[in-house]
Amino acid sequence: MKIISSPGEMAAWAAKQAGAGRRIGLVPTMGFFHEGHLSLMRLAGRHADRVVVSLFVNPAQFGPGEDLAAYPRDFARDRELAEKEGAAVLFAPDAASIYPEGFQTTVRVGRLTRYLCGASRPGHFDGVATVVCKLFHLTAADCAVFGEKDFQQLAVIRRMVADLNMAVEIIGHPIVREADGLALSSRNAYLDERSRDSALCLSRSLALAQKSAAGGILEARELAGQVRDFILTFPGTEIDYVVFVHSRSLEPVATVDADTRLALAVKINGRVRLIDNGPVLQPAASPATTA
Ligand code: PAJ
Repeated sequence: MKIISSPGEMAAWAAKQAGAGRRIGLVPTMGFFHEGHLSLMRLAGRHADRVVVSLFVNPAQFGPGEDLAAYPRDFARDRELAEKEGAAVLFAPDAASIYPEGFQTTVRVGRLTRYLCGASRPGHFDGVATVVCKLFHLTAADCAVFGEKDFQQLAVIRRMVADLNMAVEIIGHPIVREADGLALSSRNAYLDERSRDSALCLSRSLALAQKSAAGGILEARELAGQVRDFILTFPGTEIDYVVFVHSRSLEPVATVDADTRLALAVKINGRVRLIDNGPVLQPAASPATTA
């Protein structure tokens, strides 16, 4: 596996592969790999001749007071894991090469970014869309894999690709979970034992909403009330949002149906913000993958 840190070198490598007719699959990440990231790499390998994994903790998508400085990092371990998964390149640029002096362009997706994490993290999706756009160009990606864990991010990227006529196939991967339901996340590294227990409120909320909906409660306001009350029974939880949304437009719905997803963001012990999402009316087991 090649380690590339220079954008110029990345683009040159990609041009060579494309010239040889090879299909390039990109997996954009911020590192500190877990089984979720590794599953994305494996899926990319099934869709491409060469897999590029990018590792860049993107300052543009962190707001002031967020965890940019504290974000967990372990380059040596990530490098080993990406190599084991058969990545051809680990692209790990530094911030100065991605955002050099004078940089002043932003890719902004509209309405989709107004809700959910877009509402609680202003500017976050501008940072995501801008860096992903750059990564698509630098790696000449033919396809790219994103996790449904960040459901809004996946929708934003799909929108950007369609709106800007980018020739990149976007492939979604189901959420990878621990055996007890907790969605894998690099930020789970922040959880001590007690907050790890409280973090289960997210996946259990999905199960609760599914059970209530199966029992005939379809009014979003009533379901959201149940889920909120349930989350607050876990110590140290602070709700950011509990919203039933349409799975494509991400607009809040009044009544849940087969196209509805429950989207959740909860802060644990005032420190660790976790997100999760899932369908409400499908069987609980269907889209989730267990690590
Ligand atoms: P990061 O949080 O490192 O996630 C990288 C990719 O892994 C994303 O597509 C994310 O949805 C996916 N992922 C994370 N946890 C997952 C899980 N439990 N199951 C399935 N997929 C999972 O998302 C980012 O980085 C950044 O915003 C990025 C797209 C790299 C832009 O900077």
